[in-house]
Formats: sequence, structure tokens, C-alpha cells
Amino acid sequence: MEEDGLKILVESLIEYEGRWIGTPAVCNPDAAHPIPGEVLNYDQVFIRDFVPVALLFLVKDDELPAKHDGEKEIPVSGKEIVRHFLEVTLELHQQARQRSFTGLALMPASFKVIVDNGQQHLEPDFGDRAIARVTPVDSSLWWILLLRAYCKAVGNHFLAHQEDFQEGVRLILELCFSDRFDMEPTLLVPDGACMIDRRLGIYGHPLEIQALFYASLRAASELLPDNEANQKVRRAVHLRLQALKERIRIDYWLDIKSLNDIYRFRVEQYGKEVINKFNLYSDSIPYEWLSEWLEEKGGYFAGNLGPSQLDCRFFTLANLMTILCSLATKMQSQEIMELIYQQWDKLLAHMPIKICYPALEGRDWEILTGCDPKNKRWSYHNGGSWPVLTWMLAAAALKTGRYDVLKRLKEDLVVVGKRLLAEDWPEYYDGEDGRLIGKEARKFQSWTIAGFFLTQELIENPEHLVLVNFGFDEDP
Ligand code: GLC
Repeated sequence: MEEDGLKILVESLIEYEGRWIGTPAVCNPDAAHPIPGEVLNYDQVFIRDFVPVALLFLVKDDELPAKHDGEKEIPVSGKEIVRHFLEVTLELHQQARQRSFTGLALMPASFKVIVDNGQQHLEPDFGDRAIARVTPVDSSLWWILLLRAYCKAVGNHFLAHQEDFQEGVRLILELCFSDRFDMEPTLLVPDGACMIDRRLGIYGHPLEIQALFYASLRAASELLPDNEANQKVRRAVHLRLQALKERIRIDYWLDIKSLNDIYRFRVEQYGKEVINKFNLYSDSIPYEWLSEWLEEKGGYFAGNLGPSQLDCRFFTLANLMTILCSLATKMQSQEIMELIYQQWDKLLAHMPIKICYPALEGRDWEILTGCDPKNKRWSYHNGGSWPVLTWMLAAAALKTGRYDVLKRLKEDLVVVGKRLLAEDWPEYYDGEDGRLIGKEARKFQSWTIAGFFLTQELIENPEHLVLVNFGFDEDP
């Protein structure tokens, strides 16, 4: 089965100037959509979608099947493909920087190869073409994380230490550090700036961006050597890491104890040393749901925090990322894993894993999504199930030594794998119990295929965890 999955990925590789530079979001755009021909941007290489594919390519490297070009069989190297991807995306970043007044720019969400008069060129989407013009803030952060994973896989920092890569990393961070109308140390972003790239009430300071930012800062402190050019940025990285972890670990944390504290919060407090910094009103917290969801043990980070706003939804990618990058303390990591274990039937249900929990309904759905039919309750981003996320669960379970979680996941994967294969690797599943193939789900989604095999690789060869893991800072 793995061989067939890898073949689909390899055959979908996109060629640019004689190099393989990535896989499109769907491997077979023609067969992929319920309405044939409606490809939208699924034929593009997305930075976030390519990450699990790239990790799998790094792990498999020269064990990947050969690519067919007519009768010819061309051997491919996983590490080389990832390097090419990092190089072309850096070029796109450089071009965007040149066009920008400040000299700073984001990485694109995605790109495609255009052939014009026999000449190839790359057409990026920085959100200027995307549906609803969403800003891909996560791309730059995932890019830094992938650069680090590549260095880990090849066993040296040669690529990251090249001047153009050093400059790229520095300038991405400079953009994150630049002054804005913002509440530091978290990053202020518009709605839909991450994997959930549609309106879902996640504008402000969503956990996913903060966790990816923290992970990128940790990666940057490894990738940027201590020299004159990096002196300033390294200092800023150090300070931001401290401030960011303090904010998230304390103010975003939800468990029975913190819920009790919030319930009795005093409001309208002014000054530096107050407890209810964000002026949260107790009535805005969905206690009824939370008291069922949170047991005596177990906790997680809230989805978002801002002025009089605490989004208590559980966001899976973000919480798992806090474990991998050690934004969560050792204890908090255990609590998050405990919560997932307790809520298995809700979060993993028939097909894994709910992207967030619970779904927005009724008036909340109307106001927060703008009545988006694709994001109806328990569908797509609004409580839909995304099989790609299992690799992060496996990685987090390995890191926290939760072998009970790994065992259960491994058991589930037997059924999940059969369904994914039979149903042509859908992008996502719908329904509170995750039983329905997503209404608008594309088939042959590259990160669904890669995510499944990457999960298996991690379970079978835990040493691959090193590609995505950052040690706990309590460790010596
Ligand atoms: C959807 C997902 C987004 C992904 C894109 C391409 O818009 O929400 O995260 O990058 O599809 O697969």
C-alpha cells in the first residue's frame, strides 16, 4: 500500500527548469473534484500542504519509487526535491521583497508553473489571488521549520548557512518583529491566515500562528549562527521566545483549575499587575460545554485570546504544535495528550482528526463565518476531520511517551488506511462522527496521502521525530 501511495505522490511531482520542486495540493486535479474541471488552486504547490510530503520525502529519500516519463524511469531523491522546493520558494520570497517598499515580505501560500511562449515561470499566490484574499501568515513559519528539518535530515547546516538562506530567515523574522498596531508578544493576524484559510472567527491572535511562530523562533536560534550579521536578530529571538511562552503558557491555558479562576475573575481592572488582563467576562465562557469536555485531568490551550475574548474551541494542529516545539511545558504537554485520549471518540471518531472542536452553530456560524455553506457545522474547517493531522498526533505521542495513544492510533490506522485507499485519499471528512466523505473534499489530496504514511513511519521509526521536535526547555 505504501509503495502505491508514494507512487501517486512521485508521479505528481512538478518540474521546473529541470528540477522536481514539489507536489500539488491534489495529485490528480482532473479526477479530484466532484465537479470535473473545477480545479481552483488545487493544482498548485502549497507550502503548508507540502510540509508533510516533504517530511516523508526526507525520511524515504532514495527509497522513493522512480518517476515515469513516458517509457523512461527517472530515479528521484527525496532530499533533493525538498532542497529544490526550499530554493524556489526562497526565490519567490526574494522577488516579493524586491517589490515591497519595506524590503520585507511573506512567503506565498502556493505557486504554480506557467509556460508562456515555451518559457517556464513561477506564479505565486501571496493571498492576492486566493479565495477571500486570505493572508498566508503560516507559510513563512512552516518554511523555516522545513529548512530546519532538511538540515536535520542531511546532517549539516550547509544550505541554511548560505547567505541567501540566512538573509531569508532573518527577513521573515524581521517582518514578524516589526512594529504594528499590535499587542506583543503574540502576532496579530487576520482571519484565515493559517491552515484554516477561510473566515472562522480566528482573527486576532490565533494559537496556530503563535505556536508556529514560537517553533520558528526556536528553529531560527539553531539556523542563525552567532555572528555579527545575526547578532541583533538573535537577541530579538531570545527575548521574544521568553515573552511569548509566558503569555501562552499562562493566559491561553484552560483546565478545570483555570476555568474556576476565570469564572470568578474580577473585571475592569487597570494596571500592569492585574489578574484579568484581557477583561474577560465570565458570561462569555461556554461553561456548560466546557464542564462536560474538561475532566479532572487534562487541559489545552485556548484557540485565541484578545480584548474581552477567549475562544475556548480546541484547535488540534495548534495544540499538537505547542507540544512539538515545547511551547507547552512538560506537564501541559501531558495534559493535552490526556485530553485527546479522553476525548478520542469525539476528536478521532470514525475518521481522524477534528480540525477544531466543537463546531460553530446557528447565529455563531452566521456571524463568524459570514454564513459560509462550506463551513456548516461539522464540515470542512468547522469541526470537519482531516486525516493529515495524524502525523502530528503520532509525533506528539512519541515525544510525551504516550504509548497508549500510539497503540490506539495504530489500531485506528488499520481501518482508516483501508477507507482512505478505497475512497481515493479525500481531503477531509464531515459529520460529528467523521463518517462522511467531505462534501466538497478533493480526492488524491497530497497531504492526506503523505500524512498517513508519515504517521506510520513515525510509529515504526521513532527516530524520525528529530525532524520536527524541539527539546523541552526544562531538560538540561
Ligand atoms: C484548503 C485548506 C488549506 C490548504 C488548501 C490546499 O483551503 O484549508 O489549509 O492549504 O486547501 O489543500
